[in-house]
Amino acid sequence: MTEIPMELTEEEREKISQFLNHIDSAFSRERSALIPILQEAQNRIGYLPSEVMLRIAEFLGIPGMDVYSVVTFYNQFRLNPPGKHSIRVCMGTACHVGGGTVILDSWRRRLGIDKRQTTPDREFDLDTVACVGCCAMAPVTVIDNEVNGKISPTRVDGILLAYEMKKKKEAQENQ
Ligand code: FES
Repeated sequence: MTEIPMELTEEEREKISQFLNHIDSAFSRERSALIPILQEAQNRIGYLPSEVMLRIAEFLGIPGMDVYSVVTFYNQFRLNPPGKHSIRVCMGTACHVGGGTVILDSWRRRLGIDKRQTTPDREFDLDTVACVGCCAMAPVTVIDNEVNGKISPTRVDGILLAYEMKKKKEAQENQ
């Protein structure tokens, strides 16, 4: 999992400053507080931007690399912000056998990101999931909680094209 450099939004800056004001009174400066602090930061901000990891390292008096290693070790932590739309490629047995890896590759190539990353425009984030219980429809991709079955690389293109068209239409309507 790698971080994709991205500008912080105003809202994120606000949440970060609130969090930094709060850690002093809420946590001890012992190393054992690292995971609870990271969890709290992620709950408040939605992910763990590098600025926040560095400030946490400073607070605990430990190297930034130690914080980064913990964040990348545990699956619960996100280095990238959630996208507007979440793409979850099922990697359960039926989907895997039915071509899940090819489908994941198609999403990766089309979005230009790896799993657990977010597109720089923050439109999509990509990850894998375990079986979502719709094996008869394998291979499956869940988009914003909606199960899409029998996915092929061409359908990946079609789905993204539909999103692009919808976005353009909305932009025109808002002009
Ligand atoms: S393995 Fe993908 S839905 Fe069951």
